[in-house]
Amino acid sequence: MENKHGNVIPDGFFWGGAVTSFQTEGAWNEDGKGPSIVDARPVKEGQSDWKVAVDFYHRYKEDIALFKELGFTAYRTSISWSRIFPDGEGEVNEKGLQFYDDLFDELLANGIQPIVTLYHFDLPLALAEKYNGFASRKVVELFHTYARTVFTRYRNKVKYWLTFNEQNLVVTNPQFWGVKTEGAENEEALRYQVTHNAFIAHAKAVQSLHELVPGGQMAGMVTYMATYPNTCKPEDAIANMKAKELLIDFYFDVFSHGEYPTYVTRNLKRKGIMPVFEDGDAELLKANTVDYLSISYYQSQTVSAEIINGSHLIEGVTPNPHLKANEWGWSIDPIGLRVALKDMHARYRLPIFITENGIGVREELNETNTVVDDYRIQYLSEHIKQMKLAIEEGVDVFGYLTWGSTDLISSGGQFEKRYGFIYVNRGETDLRDLRRYKKKSFDWYKRVIATNGAELDFK
Ligand code: BG6
Repeated sequence: MENKHGNVIPDGFFWGGAVTSFQTEGAWNEDGKGPSIVDARPVKEGQSDWKVAVDFYHRYKEDIALFKELGFTAYRTSISWSRIFPDGEGEVNEKGLQFYDDLFDELLANGIQPIVTLYHFDLPLALAEKYNGFASRKVVELFHTYARTVFTRYRNKVKYWLTFNEQNLVVTNPQFWGVKTEGAENEEALRYQVTHNAFIAHAKAVQSLHELVPGGQMAGMVTYMATYPNTCKPEDAIANMKAKELLIDFYFDVFSHGEYPTYVTRNLKRKGIMPVFEDGDAELLKANTVDYLSISYYQSQTVSAEIINGSHLIEGVTPNPHLKANEWGWSIDPIGLRVALKDMHARYRLPIFITENGIGVREELNETNTVVDDYRIQYLSEHIKQMKLAIEEGVDVFGYLTWGSTDLISSGGQFEKRYGFIYVNRGETDLRDLRRYKKKSFDWYKRVIATNGAELDFK
């Protein structure tokens, strides 16, 4: 079915951008905010720290005016837990709650729905130091308290929520959940226990959202790296299937079916590392499945049988020789997005929200104070085209958000890896004047949104 602009994207589709608190806000210790594990990360030589970022905390009104000009109907950010509970537990910080009240009010007043991630890699530092982060069920309980606090406070302002950003990274990157694995008796067992604890925290948040927020919608989110068999050898096909099970399917299966799939339980039991289920865990997971699925999508890889070793690190994953990559080696594969969407639709039949997609590039302002970012326009338009084909083929996608809107600090701590439509005038360590300038892609995305995705080419 075609909408009034003559394409398949449904009316009311969410268009916008996505960021996190710590990559944009700055104000790392203002208004009672406690330190998070991000603030405590060692800063690499010559790279940015997290103290100012793009100063969104003080400039959000100016930025939101630009988002309105772009025509955004949605903006995803995360709440910083350590603004709300500076130590992760104990007294709530009213000033932190007030900041997000003001931010969400400003978005709504400009016709932009806030899409909110509860947790994006920034545990309050005290919880990492005291409890080893999500290795402890105590932190699961504290997360639940924090979730209930913000659901109650923002119940009339935020409808669409995500629990954990890219929950499928827990196994490979438990440090993002505040967990040190060094010295553990069985490191792999600990990684899967943290994964289980995150599933329980997620399910409790789903339960509380449905109880506290009328019409509240909760996602389970993964970073979807599409994978292909490295060759047409059947051995590579099965290796690819098994890699995808561990990378992607496990998470979506639990989010949407509410139970561990047998391909995981058999494997973990065989290795003797099945996580401890407390009383009631299985029932909690079963009763609290998600309302929609969310992905970040940047790249694809291939999987070869020859080097796969069956561990959680999935060593058979290799780059695809048929694809070009960005400066950071991330392969560019718009069709992979369609592969992901079609596969998710076939397996789960749930609505899908693409909550991150984009390309990081080193950029500087030219003499007319802009950036001619044709590569970004091309990258995004090719991905949106594949999304449209997926919709035409029956997939229920209800929103598309680019990664970044203004430039922001990359997850690894580099500022020079820029993602936005809006250039922020600062360097890696030199904050300059932090002024905002529109890149060429600004006008392009504005037209994409105005035509609800019908006009993707740049004139
Ligand atoms: C996603 C994360 O994995 O990718 C973001 O949710 C991150 O936090 C984004 O910034 C892009 O990755 P990077 O490393 O280029 O910043």
